[in-house]
Amino acid sequence: MVESEGSNQAEKRDVAPSTALEYLDPSYWDERFSREEHYEWFKDYSHFRHLMQQNVKPGSSVLELGCGNSQLCENLYDDGVTDVTCIDLSAVAVERMQKRVQSKGYKEIKVLEADMLDLPFGDECFDVVIEKGTMDVLFVDSGDPWNPRPATVARVMLMLQGVHRVLKPNGIFISITFGQPHFRRPLFDSPEFTWSVEWNTFGDGFHYFFYILKKGQRSIDGEKPGNKLPVPSINLLHEELESEDYLFRNLIDEMDC
Ligand SMILES: C[S@@+](CC[C@H](N)C(=O)[O-])C[C@H]1O[C@@H](n2cnc3c(N)ncnc32)[C@H](O)[C@@H]1O
Repeated sequence: MVESEGSNQAEKRDVAPSTALEYLDPSYWDERFSREEHYEWFKDYSHFRHLMQQNVKPGSSVLELGCGNSQLCENLYDDGVTDVTCIDLSAVAVERMQKRVQSKGYKEIKVLEADMLDLPFGDECFDVVIEKGTMDVLFVDSGDPWNPRPATVARVMLMLQGVHRVLKPNGIFISITFGQPHFRRPLFDSPEFTWSVEWNTFGDGFHYFFYILKKGQRSIDGEKPGNKLPVPSINLLHEELESEDYLFRNLIDEMDC
């Protein structure tokens, strides 16, 4: 299984929620992380390493939002990006991640319990902020994706304002998601942000989006240099139909009805 090397399908079904709303419940994540060692949402690092290396240089200070039990921070470290701070709302995820990185000798990686909607960091202190599948959690009760509920928009904007605030003047926000540009750009492109918005895709069946938002790079005429790739056709592999990513998306779609 590509999305979660190290876990099998039965284990994943065991931790998957019965409704998408559970993804908004901190106790769901605590309970899940107490039983699950490792799960990689969307794809593991090998699938987007080339994109990460184009944008995150060794020596960069990185903040990862909602690390869960992903190995992203260790993968970055192995590629020379050692100044990594991970946060998660789940105390269980944080405690287990702290133990894991310590035991593996990744001593510079910091893991903190914190809410991405209320970042406990000063202004302009990170070169890069990364989220993988964490912003998507905010959308599970969004209603119509073309016209998300005001409460959803307010939460997403709170998150984005915090990310924009903690980024250095030329910092980069990387968002790895299945959220397509026509749903994400209205939020990313809000006039209060000075970042430019570009994206790439990766993945074989489902395509995932790798957004690169560069603070201070918004073009003067308001035209964004987005990578205007057509939205890829969906060509599902059998294994992906069984994955929790698919469940996550489908449950969100059901919420839209
Ligand atoms: C879909 S999982 C993604 C985990 C990991 N990024 C990955 O790629 O495998 C969402 C994660 O976000 C965390 N989370 C949810 N809401 C959060 C918030 N407001 N602040 C910080 N973390 C949050 C959850 O505890 C969970 O670990």
